[in-house]
Amino acid sequence: MTTAKRRYDKSGHLRFGILLALAALVATAPRAAQTPSGAQALQAACGACHRPDGPGRLARISAVRKTPEGWVMTIFRMQHVHGLKLSDAQRDALVRYLADTQGLAPSEAKPARFALERRPNVPDLELPGNLQTMCARCHSAARIALQRRDAGEWLKNVNWHLAQWPTIEYQQNARDRHWWRTASTVVPAELGKLFPLHTESWRIWQHHKAVDLGGRWLVHGHRPGRGDYWGTADITRGGDGDYRAAYRLTDEHGTATDGASHAIVYTGYEWRGTAKLGTLDTHEVFAASADGSTLSGRWFIADHPEIGADWTAVRAATQPQIVAVSPDSIRIGSRARIVVFGSHLGGKISFGPGTHARLIARSADRLEIEVAVDSAAHPGYRTVRVGRASDARSIALYDRVDRLEVTPAYAIARLGGGRIDPVSAQFDAVAYEDIAAADGKTRALRLGSLPVAWSVAPFNEEAVRDRDVDYAGHIDAFGQFMPAGAGPNPQRKFSADNTGNLFVVATLKAQAHPAASAKPVVGKAHLIVTVQRWNTPPIY
Ligand code: HEC
Ligand code: HEC
Repeated sequence: MTTAKRRYDKSGHLRFGILLALAALVATAPRAAQTPSGAQALQAACGACHRPDGPGRLARISAVRKTPEGWVMTIFRMQHVHGLKLSDAQRDALVRYLADTQGLAPSEAKPARFALERRPNVPDLELPGNLQTMCARCHSAARIALQRRDAGEWLKNVNWHLAQWPTIEYQQNARDRHWWRTASTVVPAELGKLFPLHTESWRIWQHHKAVDLGGRWLVHGHRPGRGDYWGTADITRGGDGDYRAAYRLTDEHGTATDGASHAIVYTGYEWRGTAKLGTLDTHEVFAASADGSTLSGRWFIADHPEIGADWTAVRAATQPQIVAVSPDSIRIGSRARIVVFGSHLGGKISFGPGTHARLIARSADRLEIEVAVDSAAHPGYRTVRVGRASDARSIALYDRVDRLEVTPAYAIARLGGGRIDPVSAQFDAVAYEDIAAADGKTRALRLGSLPVAWSVAPFNEEAVRDRDVDYAGHIDAFGQFMPAGAGPNPQRKFSADNTGNLFVVATLKAQAHPAASAKPVVGKAHLIVTVQRWNTPPIY
C-alpha cells in the first residue's frame, strides 16, 4: 500500500464522478431491475463482517449516525485497515444511502459546519468536562460533534482508539490521572448524553419532505483578500436525482466568471458539489434551508481547501428584492460607484440623509449607482432602498479609518515539499471607524474590506535573529501567504526547516480626510509557518 494511495481522494472530498458516469449508462434501463436497493448493497458489501443484530440491522453500522464525510472516513478505514473491497462507484452509492438513512439533522450538524466547510484557522468547538483534554487533542472536537451514538457505542469507539493506537494512554498524560477509568466510564457517558443516537431533531427530520432545489437563484458572497462577488445560479435536477448548476458571477472589480457544478444533496439538505469556477476546480459544501429557500456555505479550491469563499444563494423572487449591496461603505465627501444586486429592481433609489444617488446602469439583476456623499454628512449606517424592494440593506458612511482588523487573528501555514502540497494562509482586512457616541462610549462602524498593502514582519527576537521573514515564504497582493518548501536549509542555523513566526501586516493606502491621522493605519495578525501536513482527512 503506497502513501499516495492512502491519501483521501482529491483531498478527501466526496467523489462521485464515476457514479455519475455509471448512472448515465444505466439511465436507459429500468433502474429497479438493475440497481440493488441501498439496504441490499449495504448487506452485500458489509454483511460479511457486520452480522445482523436485529431486523434490518447490521451490528455497529446501525448504531451510528454521521455526515457524508464521516461515512467516507469510516468506509475508507474499512477498505484500508480491514481489507474491504469496493469500487469507487459502490462506495459512493453506500455513502449516499448511509448519509440519507443515518445522517445528522441540520440542527445537529450546524455547530460544527465550519469543519465540513473546511474553514481554515477557525477555533474548534469547546467540549465540556473531560472531553476537551481526552478527545480533542489529536483531532478536532468537531469530528466528534459530527457523529451520534449511544454511550455503549461511544465506549466501543474508545476501545477502538486504544486498540488501534496503544500509545494513546501515554500520549494523553495517563501517568498523573486514572486515564483508562475516565476514558471508559465518564467519557462515553458524557458523549452519550451530548451526542446520542436517538434525538427528536433527527426523528422529525426523517419525515421532512425533500425540497427540489431546482430553479433560478441569486448568489452573493465574499472571498477573503479578493472582495465581494454576486451573480446567478441556474440549478436543475437530473433524472438521477443529482443537481447541475450553471453560474454567472461578477466580482467587485468587475471580473466576470462562469461556472458549472455537479452536486449530490445528501440527507435532504447537504449539498456537495464539484465545480469549475472559471479556471478553478472547486468543491462546494452548502446546506439548504429546510424550506429550500436558501443555500449557503463555502466553496474552496479542490487541492487547497484553505482558499475559498462564503456563498449565500436565495431563490430569485417574483417580488422586488435586494440581495446585496457592494461595497460596504462610502467615504464622506466622496463619490462612489455602488452595485445593488437583486431582482425586479426599479423605482426610487435612496441611500439616506446626506447622500445623492444617480442611476448609471441597469441590467436584469443589478443597478449601478453613483452615490455622492455631502462633506457635512454624519458618519453612520444608512439604509439602502430601491422602489418597493422590501429587503433593506445598509451601507456605512465614514470620514476616516481608525483601525484595520486582520482576520484570522492567528493562523497556521504549512510548508510544502515532495508530494505534500503547502497549506497557505489567507488573510482579510476589515476597516473600522470608532465613533464617539453621546454616552461617552465609542461605537464601531464596520466599513468592510478596503484596499490594503500586505507584508510580513518578524514576530519576536528569535524571528529577527533567524531571519524567518527571508525563509518562511511570502505574502501576495491579495493577502495569501505562500509558505516556502520544506526540508533542512543549510543556510539556516542548524540547517533548520523553513518554519517561521511572523506578523502579517495590512497597511491602508493613504487617507484623504483631514480628520485622519497622518500615520498609516495598520492591522496585524500572528502567523506560524510550520511543518508539512501529512494527513488530510475530510474532517480534521
Ligand atoms: C473485512 C471486515 C469488514 C467489512 C467488510 C466491513 N467492516 Fe466495518 N468494521 C470492521 C471492524 C473489524 C470494525 C471494528 C474496528 C474499527 O472500527 O475499525 C468495524 C467497525 C465499523 C463501524 C463502527 C466504527 C465507527 O467508528 O463508526 C462502522 C460504522 C462500520 N464498520 C461500517 C462499515 C460499513 C458501512 C461497511 C461496508 C461498506 C463495513 N463496515 C464493512 C470490519 C469490517
Ligand atoms: C491519540 C490521538 C487520538 C485521541 C486522543 C483521540 N482520537 Fe479519535 N481518532 C484518532 C485518529 C487518528 C482517528 C482517525 C482514524 C481513521 O479514520 O482512520 C480518529 C477518529 C475518530 C473518530 C471517527 C471514527 C469513525 O470511523 O467514525 C471519532 C468519532 C473519534 N476519533 C472520536 C474520539 C473520541 C470520542 C476521543 C476521546 C475519547 C478521541 N477520538 C480521542 C486519534 C485520536
